[in-house]
Amino acid sequence: MRGVIFDGKQPQVVDDLEIRDPGPGEVLVAVVAAGLCHSDLSVIDGTIPFPVPVVLGHEGAGVVEAVGAGVGHVAPGDHVALSTLANCGACAECDRGRPTMCRKAIGMPAQPFSRRGTKLYNFASNSAFAERTVVKAVQAVKIPDDVPLPSAALIGCGVLTGVGAVLNRAEVGQGESVVVIGAGGIGLNVLQGARLAGASTIVAVDANPAKEAAARSFGATHFVDASTSPDTSAAVKSILPTGADHAFECVGNTKLIRQAVDLLDRHGQAVLLGVPPADAQASFLVSSMYLDKSILGCRYGSSRPQRDIVLYARLYREGRLMLDELITETYPVEDFAKAADDAHHGRVARCVLTF
Ligand SMILES: NC(=O)c1ccc[n+]([C@@H]2O[C@H](COP(=O)([O-])OP(=O)(O)OC[C@H]3O[C@@H](n4cnc5c(N)ncnc54)[C@H](O)[C@@H]3O)[C@@H](O)[C@H]2O)c1
Ligand SMILES: [Zn+2]
Ligand SMILES: [Zn+2]
Repeated sequence: MRGVIFDGKQPQVVDDLEIRDPGPGEVLVAVVAAGLCHSDLSVIDGTIPFPVPVVLGHEGAGVVEAVGAGVGHVAPGDHVALSTLANCGACAECDRGRPTMCRKAIGMPAQPFSRRGTKLYNFASNSAFAERTVVKAVQAVKIPDDVPLPSAALIGCGVLTGVGAVLNRAEVGQGESVVVIGAGGIGLNVLQGARLAGASTIVAVDANPAKEAAARSFGATHFVDASTSPDTSAAVKSILPTGADHAFECVGNTKLIRQAVDLLDRHGQAVLLGVPPADAQASFLVSSMYLDKSILGCRYGSSRPQRDIVLYARLYREGRLMLDELITETYPVEDFAKAADDAHHGRVARCVLTF
């Protein structure tokens, strides 16, 4: 079968991948569509260290093909969106509703794929850039058949991360002010999350002026072009003179992390979504923090996928959550290189690969 693999040097589209059968508690999914998130590119450029060879992709949707022993919540033929959280469901963190903090879900890549006698790792317990993938039962979330699978695919990372960061982690309240630095696939979802939460002033900042139209349609009330503003912080402060209640960093750049902290109003919180290199350090002015400010890390929108994916699919069907508009272009998987180039150069909100 076809898929996108990375061998430590370069990505490659191959057509001789194999996947093992689903074991107990696992689901075999025929992937129909998968979004290209910046984190896939970060594996390729080394920002996110990952063992190789690996099958990339972690934002997908498809149709259940087979289930292993003990799986009862989905059956062959069901449409599912896939999460990246292979949480155990049986530890204290899972039990208190924090599956993103389950220690079994972090840093334990499996090798369900093989090619020419070599085993390949799955990326983010998911590997949606393959015609078929095997995931744990908790990761396969049933969605209504009338949600188009290319749109549903985006829920599994961009929407869970961005909207989840607003609703679950920051808990943005009615009338509060929000700054979103970086209006890519994640940032656009933070913007629409802020709108859903009833935020008042929502400022998007991006270094690519071509992102303005999408940012505004996803909820930004203001847009600051970081490529032409001599002082981005001053430009934001002219809109929010006392600073923001919430500032989300959605790029993965330590200077922008500092900027997010500096843009906070009293009692404000900076939410860090972007992933800089693993050894990156950032600094902040300690004296500013005494004003009840916080810096919050956020993994995967602090999501509970079986609850949140169903909620986001419902909001989409009610016309309250935008998914179709996130997709700038779809590409057959063979055109992965073109999709990666378009994403790298910021020509798209999200690219979606189809199988
Ligand atoms: N925390 C999590 O669980 C999680 C989940 C998914 C992705 N991520 C991370 O989130 C980040 C964003 O991912 P994405 O898929 O949205 O990427 P993306 O490439 O779609 O978007 C990045 C955006 O940042 C903008 N940008 C770049 N440099 C800038 C600057 N100096 N000032 C302002 N804007 C700038 C780009 O123009 C682009 O619009 C990545 O670091 C990714 O690894 C984190
Ligand atoms: Zn992602
Ligand atoms: Zn657990």
